[in-house]
Amino acid sequence: MEKKDIIKKLSEEFDSFYLYDEEIILERIKALKENFPSIKFLYSLKTNPNPHILDIIYGQGLGADAASLSEVEKSYDRIKDQKKIQYSAPGKSKEDIRKSLDKAIIIADSLNEIKLISEIAKEENKTVKIGIRINPNFTFTDNKGMAGKFGVDEDLFFEKIEDFKSLENIEIKGIHVHSKSQELNYEVIKNYYKNILDLATRVNEKLDCDLEFLNMGSGIGIPYEVEDDEVDVKSLGASLEEFLQTCKEELDKVEIYIETGRYLVGKAGLYVTKVRDKKSSFGKNFVILSNTLNGFYRPSINMMVGLYTDFENPPANEPLFTSSNSSQIFPLEERAEKETVTIMGNLCTGADVVRKEIEFPKVEIGDVLYFNNAGSYSIVLSPMQFASMERPKEVILRKDNEILVTE
Ligand SMILES: Cc1ncc(COP(=O)(O)O)c(C=O)c1O
Repeated sequence: MEKKDIIKKLSEEFDSFYLYDEEIILERIKALKENFPSIKFLYSLKTNPNPHILDIIYGQGLGADAASLSEVEKSYDRIKDQKKIQYSAPGKSKEDIRKSLDKAIIIADSLNEIKLISEIAKEENKTVKIGIRINPNFTFTDNKGMAGKFGVDEDLFFEKIEDFKSLENIEIKGIHVHSKSQELNYEVIKNYYKNILDLATRVNEKLDCDLEFLNMGSGIGIPYEVEDDEVDVKSLGASLEEFLQTCKEELDKVEIYIETGRYLVGKAGLYVTKVRDKKSSFGKNFVILSNTLNGFYRPSINMMVGLYTDFENPPANEPLFTSSNSSQIFPLEERAEKETVTIMGNLCTGADVVRKEIEFPKVEIGDVLYFNNAGSYSIVLSPMQFASMERPKEVILRKDNEILVTE
């Protein structure tokens, strides 16, 4: 069955829903594995923790980048291997730490947290391997650091490293660096990887060659705008392999990880909804859709950011806001006739604007529309409790065309 026919059939049953395509997820996992043969990948499940998606991705052998205790537990239930789950987030509670000691490698995010993990491990009579998140003296584009809430500043890390080594019940075995998401230029990411490998080499020296893992974070973006291109993962992977050859001796025992969320699932998701109403007001045409800002917030937030800032150069603020037209909208059945319309949602706010005064194929009440780029940072970030609207369904299209509806 064609995808459009599947959408049509599902639309008879559901008012609005996400459709995630397993085949696309599998293709993207394959692309990473093929192009980065020396790297282990962790799925950043904050982007989409749908249980079927977790099964698909963990079923391919990936580990987890967990950002909360709940994400640690969801991942551990499936992966059952502490070494493949890294738990990195600022502001972990004592309970978060205690309950993850045996389920994940905890990445400490501050000096306080390093001490706290040591104290809790001691109380529990365990010695645990941990990583430390470093806020490096470089960004993707500059060779200088940036103030922020994540990690321990690089200079402070080196200043305190001997103190960390003497703390009881913890062994510092890894570092984590993540400085940006959604980069499309492979040369920029490549340069960043080079800086991280250099940092890891210096850390390893200070740790008496005891470093066991380096987590290079994320950064690999996806095309959202029509004119965007995919990251050249082939060239990126080849460059990284080359760099790894040059520091083979220094980082001999170090396992290297990359975290990724949107690259795996962003393009695999569609958001499908319906025209609820049409009207004219003061000479302007309005199309009212079901569940937009509250079901799939991204197109509406694009409009909001555009309304309140410079629409040509809005500030990207990942993962909430990427760019002004990050999801394109399509009618399932396209009529030749066009009209100028403002497309909005059905919430009690004028802020759920999806498109303002655009030329769009004519639609009628009941017509089905769908948005692309809806697999990542979409359902998880949509304010679904507003007005107690019905939550959109989540549907998985398996590679054999079986349909799974998430309960
Ligand atoms: C620490 C960290 N790792 C990984 C990611 C995943 O980023 P992406 O979905 O762009 O791959 C994020 C995103 O916010 C992050 O903060």
